[in-house]
Amino acid sequence: MTVEDIEHHYSSGTLLERLNAALIDDGADPAHPTIEALAPYDQFHGRGMEATEEIAGMLSVAPTDRLLDIGSGIGGPARYMAHRFGCRVTGIDLTAEFCDVARHLTRLLALESQVGFELGNALSMPFPDASFDGAYSMNVSMNIADKAALYGEIRRVLKPGGWLMLSELAQGPGGPLDFPTPWAATGSSSFLSTPEETRRGLEAAGFEIVQFRDAAEDMKAYGARSKAMVERGEKPPHRAVQLIHGDAAVTAMRNTARGVAERRIVPVEILSRRRG
Ligand SMILES: C[S@@+](CC[C@H](N)C(=O)[O-])C[C@H]1O[C@@H](n2cnc3c(N)ncnc32)[C@H](O)[C@@H]1O
Repeated sequence: MTVEDIEHHYSSGTLLERLNAALIDDGADPAHPTIEALAPYDQFHGRGMEATEEIAGMLSVAPTDRLLDIGSGIGGPARYMAHRFGCRVTGIDLTAEFCDVARHLTRLLALESQVGFELGNALSMPFPDASFDGAYSMNVSMNIADKAALYGEIRRVLKPGGWLMLSELAQGPGGPLDFPTPWAATGSSSFLSTPEETRRGLEAAGFEIVQFRDAAEDMKAYGARSKAMVERGEKPPHRAVQLIHGDAAVTAMRNTARGVAERRIVPVEILSRRRG
């Protein structure tokens, strides 16, 4: 799987146009969006804003801290963290269209003095050693085969004692996944590790595990609430997958939900700290 394959999976060339149309349909002004109006679209991971708020609640962040968002997408989590903690956040993502839209939305929200985005690969980041107090990554590692290289590169750019929060989908015991999923059209671009492999990989790279959460029940409850909303004729709270993948989203989301229900996919939230 190449960088071009990943970018091809996520890019359409029409994302901003479609986002603006979706905001208008919601009754929001695309020229003056709010964090709340963007939330259904700019949190491109399971449970959307609910998961971002949850991981933020597990962190301790000072306004003077510099955070790194690895695989920052269109920047919803980065803007949320900067807004909530008053800190600075740098996002890195290898999909150019996402970085462009992320910068555009950040300007509209007047957060550009706190939040910036770099086009680049998480496996080779353009930051000096020990640049960040904390790093997080939401639903990104499933696209990265070489986890040891990823954890090593994150460790390099974190200050000693800096924290890492990984929110990702792990391979469960229930069997292989069905494709497409929101992160991969086929199995050739999907690289889930088991929770135990992730734990061992982080420890081998020099991290100490602080907290390890299985979020499957939260994911199922969120899915049930979303389904009930749709049945009542309302929009579901999380619409990022439809925005990004269009018609393919329905099957991709169904495959993920079934994977979680059958323990083929285990959503995990792992807080760790760089040793020494
Ligand atoms: C499912 S999206 C999640 C985006 C964002 N974290 C969020 O939660 O809104 C996965 C993102 O990871 C990015 N990505 C995948 N592999 C990457 C890599 N090696 N380096 C940087 N970004 C990567 C993709 O471009 C995409 O934006």
